[in-house]
Amino acid sequence: MWRISSSIALAIFVFWCTISESLTQLDGLTDAKPKRCSHERAYEMYGAYCVGLKLHEIPSLKSGIEILDFSENRLQELKADTFSSYTSLKYLYLAENQMYNIDKDAFAPLGYLQTLDLSNNVIFNLPQTIFQLPSLRKLYLKDNPLLHLSLPKLQLHKPINAPLELLDISNCKILVLPNWGPLPHLIHYNISHNPLSILEPSHFAAMCKLEKVDLTSAIDNLPYCGLKPTIIWLQEKRVYFQLEDYSKLNAKEFNDCPAATEGFGVLNATHQQCKALHLQFQNHKTSRRTWLNVAGGLAGFLIGFILLLYLMHRHNVSQTKTKAEKMKKAIPTNDSDNQAMVPILNELNDVSRL
Ligand SMILES: *[C@@H]1O[C@H](CO)[C@@H](O)[C@H](O)[C@H]1NC(C)=O
Ligand SMILES: *[C@@H]1O[C@H](CO)[C@@H](O)[C@H](O)[C@H]1NC(C)=O
Repeated sequence: MWRISSSIALAIFVFWCTISESLTQLDGLTDAKPKRCSHERAYEMYGAYCVGLKLHEIPSLKSGIEILDFSENRLQELKADTFSSYTSLKYLYLAENQMYNIDKDAFAPLGYLQTLDLSNNVIFNLPQTIFQLPSLRKLYLKDNPLLHLSLPKLQLHKPINAPLELLDISNCKILVLPNWGPLPHLIHYNISHNPLSILEPSHFAAMCKLEKVDLTSAIDNLPYCGLKPTIIWLQEKRVYFQLEDYSKLNAKEFNDCPAATEGFGVLNATHQQCKALHLQFQNHKTSRRTWLNVAGGLAGFLIGFILLLYLMHRHNVSQTKTKAEKMKKAIPTNDSDNQAMVPILNELNDVSRL
């Protein structure tokens, strides 16, 4: 009896599997949208566009692409070799996928990557290698509800290599902001829509080029007076901070909070170190530029010189050619004439002998 019922259950299960399989196939068939990425040229760059195609994998694309827009698909994982054929990528958009796992070497081949958008995923393990990408200027990690679990585990090699100018970690359920180490290029920092439990000037001290922080819906859980040192710090360093409601800061209670700026001496030192790093980077860049200019000038000179030599050579060759031709015309090549010259020479010899 038991055997019969279990075999019936198995049969039902197999039947159900087949049906659901064919249903998903049907679903795929009824999808009117094309499932192929298009290759286009935009902003003088070559790119592949695969937006909203319900793809589970990145298909094989042309290898020279500089832009890849793979937003709104069903990518779940990035493997070590996912981007190994696309080393020219400068802009990579992977927002609104279902990514939870990223191999630690997935982005390693992307030395030219400038913008990386990983918003709206479920990233669980953010690899620290992202922060070492040598050209990365904009990093979007917003709307990743599991990111707050990954950030405390992140072991960053500091100072990070990436010259980040924009960092967006808004709406990631973050309680305590990570310590990124010095970010000497950071201009925009978006930490809005996080239930922060603490906010201190030290979170911004190593960001000496910071111009704007978005704090919208991020400080609601914070003790009133605990916020004051940060506000003073941001004002002192002329950083614009965005809030949904500034009236709190104008209230009498806030004015009465102690200023608590005792730690500012140390933080000022951190700020100065960040500025020194920025200057070092700038100097490195200008020295590289001068070097490139010098090398370029030298190469130009050499090419000009070689060209001149070549032209002179050709001029000489053509001159000798015309001379030779003239000579040829002047000297008769006829054999009988040559023979006729011999007795004359002999006669001359005879004359000299006399
Ligand atoms: C910061 O992020 C929020 C939510 O993701 C967004 O609405 C806001 O426009 C961003 N702020 C800035 C200054 O870009
Ligand atoms: C820190 O630097 C600011 C200028 O940015 C200055 O006004 C302030 O007095 C300094 N504080 C300390 C404690 O050195």
